[in-house]
Amino acid sequence: MDLHTRYLGLELRSPLVASASPLTGDLDGLRRLEEAGAGAVVLPSLFEEQISHELAEIDRMFSSGRPASPNPPSYPRKLDDYNTGLWTYLALAEKAKRGLSIPVIGSLNGTSLGGWVRHATRLQETGVDAIELNLYDVVANPAVTAAEVEGRYLELIAAVKAAVRLPVAVKIGPSFTALASTAVRMVGAGADGLVLFNRFLQPDIDLATLSVQPRLRLSTSDELPLPLRWTAILHGRVRASLALSTGVHSGADAAKALLAGADVAMLASALLLHGPEHMRTVERQLVACLRGCGVASLARARGMLSQRDVPDPSAFERANYLETLAAQACSEEHGHGDSPRERSTDVGACTATAPSGVGAVDGHRPRRRQHDRPLLAIATVGCCSSRAATSARSTPGRSTSSTSPSRPSTSA
Ligand SMILES: Cc1cc2nc3c(=O)[nH]c(=O)nc-3n(C[C@H](O)[C@H](O)[C@H](O)COP(=O)(O)O)c2cc1C
Repeated sequence: MDLHTRYLGLELRSPLVASASPLTGDLDGLRRLEEAGAGAVVLPSLFEEQISHELAEIDRMFSSGRPASPNPPSYPRKLDDYNTGLWTYLALAEKAKRGLSIPVIGSLNGTSLGGWVRHATRLQETGVDAIELNLYDVVANPAVTAAEVEGRYLELIAAVKAAVRLPVAVKIGPSFTALASTAVRMVGAGADGLVLFNRFLQPDIDLATLSVQPRLRLSTSDELPLPLRWTAILHGRVRASLALSTGVHSGADAAKALLAGADVAMLASALLLHGPEHMRTVERQLVACLRGCGVASLARARGMLSQRDVPDPSAFERANYLETLAAQACSEEHGHGDSPRERSTDVGACTATAPSGVGAVDGHRPRRRQHDRPLLAIATVGCCSSRAATSARSTPGRSTSSTSPSRPSTSA
């Protein structure tokens, strides 16, 4: 299957992209990712705090002739261990461009407008193919409003776009009150692509030491539905490339990302867990999975199950448990779509019919929990409420107690 795709206006041999992580932080890792079939690589983010510190250090050296304090309290020195500091970072970007034939995307994480623009320009000089702006910001100050933060984001996207000639993707978190509107405005401000989503590190409390510990947990496929939902909602609504990041561990996950409307599926945790060569396995699984779904090409797959194209677009917006359960009961009653189109787009069918091993390795084979049926039987809202309730009473094996008068029913 031809896996060529376009992302940010770049030609990629595959829609599987290695997103920013320590694996993309040295040439050896980058080469291994390219050999394993990555369509592109995103370098780790260059953090502005790090750059400001280095520039201040150089200033001090020039003015006093000796380095300042080796460890100023405001500067998180560990960042240097991660992406190795400004100059080494720029050198890595240059080496990556010279050493790889796939597109290399640089990544910036800034705080000030001037910083973003200056560093984007520097990054452009290394020859990278695109820039990812990583809006990784925990806004904890209660005096700062969402409107202010979003206004700042739009300003910086516009400023960076005005300063560079490269395509710019914006990597955001999922926590916007009106994400669709924010996404549209970001694209209006100049973003050529959106990366959905950043994954914030969550601190935890260590009861043994009574201290707050930063916690780095790798993702699992269980985290895929959130970016999947937003990719499906935004596909066709924004004039920008869409990258799905978070929870892509297998070919089935990647297939879902593409079916939802992503141009590329990005991987970090899976590659950290299994090594860069896992990219090849995921590609193999992806092809098997799409074939298993009866999808002939990548172009055909893209957005096939986006909100714009599914028979039940409200499924992506459903936030109400009862409605969801009722809709599930309804689809159980009527089977999973009788038309060949609906059958061929069923992602469950994809894992069920993929060559042996694919579904099992992915762990994505749809499982029916024992308690699903009684639960569905009490979900009696919406168009098929009476059918769901009736069939719950009449279908052998279904719990009749669930429809007993002692249980409240919400049916009209
Ligand atoms: C150890 C580690 C380091 C990361 N560093 C960066 C980074 O520098 N910049 C960035 O934008 N994302 C960074 N990420 C986030 C990943 O690129 C990715 O968006 C996130 O982990 C979700 O994808 P996944 O489920 O495939 O891991 C990092 C993730 C991990 C696990």
